[in-house]
Order: sequence, then C-alpha cells, then structure tokens
Amino acid sequence: MAFVSSGYNPAKPMENRITDIGPRKYDEFYPPVIKKNKGKWLYHEILQPGVLVHVAESGDEVYTVRVGGIRLMSVTLIREVCDIADKHCDGHLRFTTRNNIEFMVDSKDKVQPLIDDLESRKFKGGSFKFPVGGTGAGVTNIVHTQGWIHCHTPATDASGPVKATMDVLFDDFKNMRLPAHVRVSLACCLNMCGAVHCSDIAILGYHRKPPLMDHEYLDKMCEIPLAIASCPTAALKPGKVELADGTSVKSILVNEPRCMFCGNCYTMCPSMPLADTEGDGIVIMAGGKVSNRISAPKFSKVVVAFFPNEVPRWPQTTNCIKNMIEVYAADARKYERLGEWAERIGWERFFEKCELDFTHHLIDDFRDPAYYTWRQTTQFKF
Ligand code: HEM
Ligand code: HEM
Ligand code: SF4
Ligand code: SF4
Repeated sequence: MAFVSSGYNPAKPMENRITDIGPRKYDEFYPPVIKKNKGKWLYHEILQPGVLVHVAESGDEVYTVRVGGIRLMSVTLIREVCDIADKHCDGHLRFTTRNNIEFMVDSKDKVQPLIDDLESRKFKGGSFKFPVGGTGAGVTNIVHTQGWIHCHTPATDASGPVKATMDVLFDDFKNMRLPAHVRVSLACCLNMCGAVHCSDIAILGYHRKPPLMDHEYLDKMCEIPLAIASCPTAALKPGKVELADGTSVKSILVNEPRCMFCGNCYTMCPSMPLADTEGDGIVIMAGGKVSNRISAPKFSKVVVAFFPNEVPRWPQTTNCIKNMIEVYAADARKYERLGEWAERIGWERFFEKCELDFTHHLIDDFRDPAYYTWRQTTQFKF
C-alpha cells in the first residue's frame, strides 16, 4: 500500500507533539449500574461456573458472564467482542487480570440469551471463541508471555503450550470441583515475565547449554562490563581472543562449568546467543500463591527438571500438569491451595503421590540461602 500520512511531519518531529497524557480514566467506560453503585456493593454469589451476581445496597444487581480470552487476538476478534457488548451490554465490557473477558448485564433475564450467544460462537477449526467459565475453585486462564511470537530470549513458546494445556484442562475451566482454585502460569524464559514464581502450577522455558560466543562482533555489539555483571554465577570474565585471521579482539571468556544457562548475558549482549532446539525445553514448578488467605504467599518450587519442547502439543508437559491436578483434587482438603497441600503432606509425599522423579536438579545450590531449603530435622516419612 502506498504511504498514507497521519499528519505527522518528519521534518519537524516535535511540532504538534502530544505527550504525557496517560491512559483514559477508567470511569469513562463504566456501565451505568457500575457507576451508580460504585463502593456500595453488599455481597456477591457465583450462580454457576462463569456467572456472578453482585448485589448493591440500593438493591441493584449486576450479572457478570466471564469467558476465556486467548490474550493474543486479532482486531477482527476484538470487533466481534464489541458486537456482543453492543448487542447485550449497551457497549460495555472489561478484561480481567488473567486476560479473560467479562460481559455485564443489569437484570437476570438478559443472562441466558448472552450465554447462549457466547457459547454458540466457534472458530472454523471448532474451538470455542468465548467459552463461559473461569470462576471459583477451578482452573482459569493461564497468564503467559510472548514466546516465539515476539521475544528474542525465549526457551519455549507461550501461545502454543498454553493452548495445549487449556485444551487438557478445559473441563476444569468450566467447573468448580477442585479443593481451591488452581492458577497456572507460563513464562518462556526465566526473566519470568508474569506470575510463574507465584502460581500453583508454572511452566517455565529453560536452556541447557552455555552461550555461543560471537567473538568477532562482541566488542562492537556489547558493553562488555554490562554482560560480565549480568551473570549470577560469575561465569564470565573479560579477555582477549585471537580470531582465525590472527587479529586480537577484546571479548568475554565463559567458564562453562559455572554457567547455568540463564541467558542473562544474552539479554545484555547480542553476541552471546544460547537458544538451542534440543537443549531448550520446559521446567515445571508448583505450590506458589499470592493471596494471604490462611497461609502467607508462597513461591512455587521446581518439581520437574526438564521436559523437551514437543511442538505443537507438548504432551509430556500437559500430561504432567493434568496428573498433578487430578492427584491434588483427590487428596487435598477444601480451601487448601496446591502449595498448602504439598507442605502439609510433605514434599516427599507430594513426589510419591504425583509419581514425579526426584532428581539432584531439584536440590537448591544457589548461594547461602540454598542451605535453608535442605532438611535440618529427622522428621520425614519413609
Ligand atoms: C524493561 C523491562 C520490560 C520491558 C521492556 C517489557 C516489555 C514488554 C512488552 C513490549 C510486552 C508486550 C508484548 C506483546 O504483547 O507482544 C510485554 C508483555 C508482558 N510483560 Fe513485560 N517488559 C518488561 C518487564 C517485565 C517484567 C519485569 C514483568 C513481570 C514481572 C513483565 C511482564 C509482562 C507480562 C505478563 C506481559 C504480557 C502482558 C499481556 O498479557 O499482554 N514485563 N512486556
Ligand atoms: C542489539 C541488540 C538487540 C537487537 C538487535 C534486538 C532485536 C530485536 C528485534 C528485531 C525485535 C523484534 C522487534 C519487532 O518485531 O518489532 C526485538 C524485540 C524485543 N526486544 Fe530486542 N534486540 C536487542 C536488544 C534487546 C535487549 C537488550 C532487550 C532487553 C533487555 C530487548 C528486549 C526486547 C523486547 C522486550 C522485545 C519485544 C518488543 C515488543 O514486543 O514490542 N532487546 N528485539
Ligand atoms: S519470559 Fe523471557 S522470553 Fe518470555 S516474553 Fe519474557 S523476556 Fe521474553
Ligand atoms: S547464561 Fe547465565 S549463567 Fe551462563 S554465562 Fe550467561 S549469564 Fe552466566
């Protein structure tokens, strides 16, 4: 397409420039019933999976229908979401902190037609466009990242494994049969964008090989001290390297036995790439939470050291997660989050019940705090 100017003048880039205006204010987009009753809500109920009602002091009610969001979506799909909101909700809608979509109506008779409309919409391949669910003690949307769609540091994909996992866990998106809700998150490298470090179950992209060194370009591309300071295990030092043609260049030397493949140096220095088809894969973590309910928030712990990237459906990863949720569902007590359950029965029982291999990779060996993760007691089960 030929160039179409927006009115911006590249010859005078600062002329008519609008800046620091921030986001639109949230209350511009409130449905009327929300605006009227803001700060005056009395109670709420979950009527069925995916459907909530909030009742205000005035007696007003708002019914919310939550549907799964795919997060990465086209303008075409957003337009369809807007059409639904125009048809049923006077043009209003919202997105949740886990990227689900919520449609709100102000009376009960508007709920069923909305649900019927949402559940009737499918993509050509057969997947539901707007499956209703994600409330209460079930599995809701997976918080995830960019993967091979957009980032340059991933060790796995995001959208692909998330689709594969949600397909396997779909019944639990549409039901509330678990002891407590189970939050699943994914990050495609251990920058951990998102919530993997604090989720009931987490999928994490992991490398297993040290960086490849592009000595010829390194000093031209990178701030050497920055790359050296980026390494958590001090595996890097500055040094001179002789190229094939005999020239000596400043570069970085890698002490490979000290490298644990985090990829931080590549984030800082484009001449140290480490992605690798066979080496890269997935680590599974479990037992994290952010709420203060009953127990304090917890970090998730590594429970599976490695699954390969099995494109496009990641069967070992999804089977492991499905199995972990089934064992937790059968064994945990009401209100008990996965991490609370694992800590109550003991992690040795968790591994036994979930039939997970315990390998030396799972034993913390990072600096002084590692010591506190070992067992300084004779209390353990045979
Ligand atoms: C300088 C630091 C960072 C930069 C430049 C950055 C940049 C970005 C960009 C450009 C995206 C949009 C990707 C896309 O939609 O294609 C994104 C998404 C995201 N980032 Fe970051 N990010 C940074 C740090 C972080 C940190 C520290 C976290 C978490 C602790 C984080 C969490 C996320 C999450 C969860 C998303 C996905 C959001 C969504 O659901 O659309 N980011 N980031
Ligand atoms: C010379 C060094 C680098 C090169 C050549 C490079 C190259 C690229 C390229 C080609 C993209 C895709 C852009 C697009 O599709 O629009 C990208 C995206 C990105 N890069 Fe880099 N990158 C470099 C350094 C870095 C560093 C040091 C960081 C972080 C510390 C970083 C973070 C990102 C992020 C977060 C995105 C996604 C942006 C988005 O979603 O819009 N890059 N980079
Ligand atoms: S988790 Fe890593 S690879 Fe994934 S989007 Fe964030 S920085 Fe990129
Ligand atoms: S990948 Fe991580 S551990 Fe290995 S050299 Fe780079 S920064 Fe250090």
